[in-house]
Amino acid sequence: MVCLGNICRSPMAEGLLFEKIKKLNLNMEVDSCGFESFHLNDHPDYRAIKTMKDHNIDISRHRMRLFRVEDFDYFDHIYIMDHNNYNDVRSMARNENDMEKVDFILNLTHPGTNKYVPDPYYGGASGFEHVYSLLDEATDIICSNSKSI
Ligand code: 4NP
Repeated sequence: MVCLGNICRSPMAEGLLFEKIKKLNLNMEVDSCGFESFHLNDHPDYRAIKTMKDHNIDISRHRMRLFRVEDFDYFDHIYIMDHNNYNDVRSMARNENDMEKVDFILNLTHPGTNKYVPDPYYGGASGFEHVYSLLDEATDIICSNSKSI
């Protein structure tokens, strides 16, 4: 799960998928990272932590890390939140195989549309709740596809 700051959207996506992996006992691993080092090693934004806590998911221990080229080797799928993340990740791709791993997370719920998850950082609490619901639906689809992906 990749966004810009790795303190709002992608740690929320990671937390949601991690919770579902545990609940459904899926053989899957998830992590999240970003591209902007401003919050390097920080915990998630307090509003992201609170929104997730309201849904009984604890993401408070996560620490911001940057995307690294090795992520292409370790992960089968790299889900990005918006067009900037898409360009950032693809700029580090070494070959077609790396490129093919990258997709908009909302293409899971809206195939082929390249819709973005709005950045809630500069908005209010309702933005975080909206992000939660978008990512909840998308991560449900990852789990229901998990035997084939
Ligand atoms: P995120 O939101 O990409 O969803 O984690 C952001 C958080 C921080 C910044 C930008 C976006 N920032 O520039 O500090």
